[in-house]
Amino acid sequence: MARWPRAAAVFGASGGIGCALCEAFSAQGTQVIHAGSRRGAGPQGDAIYPFAFDLADEASIAAAAEMMKDDPPEWVIVATGVLTLADGTGPERTYKRLDPAAMAEVFALNTIGPALIAKYMLPLMPRDRRFVFAALSARVGSISDNRLGGWHSYRASKAALNMLIRNFALEMARTHPEGVVAGLHPGTVDSALSEPFQSNLPEGQLTAPQDAATNLLDVLARLGPQDSGKVFDFRGDEVPA
Ligand SMILES: NC(=O)c1ccc[n+]([C@@H]2O[C@H](COP(=O)([O-])OP(=O)(O)OC[C@H]3O[C@@H](n4cnc5c(N)ncnc54)[C@H](OP(=O)(O)O)[C@@H]3O)[C@@H](O)[C@H]2O)c1
Repeated sequence: MARWPRAAAVFGASGGIGCALCEAFSAQGTQVIHAGSRRGAGPQGDAIYPFAFDLADEASIAAAAEMMKDDPPEWVIVATGVLTLADGTGPERTYKRLDPAAMAEVFALNTIGPALIAKYMLPLMPRDRRFVFAALSARVGSISDNRLGGWHSYRASKAALNMLIRNFALEMARTHPEGVVAGLHPGTVDSALSEPFQSNLPEGQLTAPQDAATNLLDVLARLGPQDSGKVFDFRGDEVPA
């Protein structure tokens, strides 16, 4: 595949989707896969090189970029994200449950962390060739598509992430005309993040992480500069803003 990257980086390689993305890159012959996670353990596989970072620690993200700068990846995927916080705080169904500290943590992890990864990784991208910087967002971050409400902090953090993706795409287009900066909606994927919410899903709506990874990489392979700044679902259809 002509557009397949020789080197790639996945931030969030310990997650359901991030791990499957690393394995899919490996299976497709990507020669260097930087696999970032908090523990720095990462998935096993040919050409997978684990590294440690924490979304809440800017210096760790700067250090990861520094480590990659001599041979930068052509594709960078941010596959981190939270829906339920580590202390068990789940997404709010009503404004009455808003808690500023929990809200701030969701924004720190879902919006600010990916933005910091962009801050340090976008400068490594080639000016004269195609690159891909993609962040896992979610359809529920679409404002115009929101008919159910609820999940206030998660939805708002993803809507804000989508805005930053658009902003970064516009900024990069001035100097990097071949580049692609995009958001991705993976579908409902069987992972730790979705596990508490799977019971009411209609039959057949849960995607295996391996299938989600293949779908998302196929979508990324097809995107061009004209798609930069947008959010795409696992079929390659644009998710409205
Ligand atoms: N699963 C779905 O149905 C679904 C649907 C729509 C969108 N998404 C989006 O897809 C993305 C991946 O979700 P997933 O289903 O793969 O979830 P997951 O299995 O829970 O993985 C989440 C990842 O985020 C990482 N992470 C959390 N806090 C971190 C921190 N402080 N520093 C570094 N990494 C941190 C986790 O690392 P640790 O292992 O260290 O905790 C893990 O690698 C998320 O952005 C999610 O919003 C998922």
